[in-house]
Amino acid sequence: MTFNIVVLPGDGIGPEVTDEAVRVLEWFAQHRAIPLHLERRLFGSAAWTAEGSTMPDATWEAILAADALLFGATGSLDQTHIPPEERRKGSLLRIRKGLDVFANLRPVKAQPALAEASPFKARTVAGADLIFVRELTAGVYFGTPRGVETQADGTRRGVNTHSYTEAEIARAARFAFELARTRRGHVTSVDKANVMEAGRLWRDVVSEVHAAGYTDVTLEHMLADNCALQLGRAPTRFDVIVTDNLFGDLLSDCAGAINGSLGMLPSAALSAPDADGRRRALYEPVHGSAPDIAGKGIANPLGAILSAAMLLRWTAKAPAEADRLEKAVEAALASGARTADIAMPGEAVLSTRAMADAVISALEANAG
Ligand code: NAD
Ligand code: IPM
Ligand code: MN
Repeated sequence: MTFNIVVLPGDGIGPEVTDEAVRVLEWFAQHRAIPLHLERRLFGSAAWTAEGSTMPDATWEAILAADALLFGATGSLDQTHIPPEERRKGSLLRIRKGLDVFANLRPVKAQPALAEASPFKARTVAGADLIFVRELTAGVYFGTPRGVETQADGTRRGVNTHSYTEAEIARAARFAFELARTRRGHVTSVDKANVMEAGRLWRDVVSEVHAAGYTDVTLEHMLADNCALQLGRAPTRFDVIVTDNLFGDLLSDCAGAINGSLGMLPSAALSAPDADGRRRALYEPVHGSAPDIAGKGIANPLGAILSAAMLLRWTAKAPAEADRLEKAVEAALASGARTADIAMPGEAVLSTRAMADAVISALEANAG
């Protein structure tokens, strides 16, 4: 069998970092016999310009038929020339919802070589190894009613709805507990149960799922504002963090500081398994299109490359190869490879391409 991967480089630094993740995956196809077929498609603004639609029908069909998607970044500065309907059609949120990839895994592991790049003290981040299970297909990102309306007095009112059903919470919780069983057996569930009814329900349902089948895993509840603090103060206290769509977005960026840059963080978004145990999957770095550095060839490709490692683990079911790639990233960093975002003053700075070369050299060195 072959794993068919649709590659959507997207906007800004998306194509720059995705090119390197693709190069790394091609190395695994060639040297480790991982049966991958990669098919590149335009997405978003680039697709609008070249093909007259942000999401041509053929691209959407390819996405639905693929074993996985490798995504770069979305977010172009000026989309005002694209009609709103077309903007929605080609949105990342539509892809996430359409594939029902509700479980967004965002692992954060302190890299020993980057202790100095972190704004936190080395002794605070040493050994930090946590993973977010961010609920990705519900919450305030998708709740209705939404929109901007003009009120009777002529002034505007913006509305979004934070909504969670019991089923949406329960499946995220189950995913987190199952994942914790493969790790250190501890789940922190993060909400604002003190303020929001949907947060209260979140807490109750997570506790019910825990009591009904996962008492071998320890569960703690934490308020989201405190979690933002603890991620910087004591990140080693976390193992699995399960939280809603918006808090997961914010808190994973907070955790990006552990290694000094958002450019280091990968992610995988997974659906429930089908009858054959296959999950739909979307792999993407946590960062966005980074317009401030786009087009310069200086973006850190490691978040995208580590997302490729997650693809090897979850889609290609090749955990040893995923470990091999994660170790190669660690080795490249240990040998001093640095892009600008993680370099200390005076350290030599590599381009996006040269950083990926350093990872591929580390793979070659341990290919046996
Ligand atoms: P961003 O993640 O693009 O950038 C935040 C900061 O981190 C910037 O200073 C940027 O230079 C830096 N950074 C990010 N990735 C980096 C990398 N690989 N190497 C080095 N530095 C890196 O967030 P933003 O600036 O708030 O948003 C820009 C656009 O990206 C917006 O349109 C936003 O909606 C979009 N966005 C998309 C995604 C996604 O595609 N999943 C994620 C976040 C933001
Ligand atoms: C992310 C991004 C997205 C989100 C945006 C681009 C829709 O910030 O993937 O973290 O908010 O989920
Ligand atoms: Mn984000």
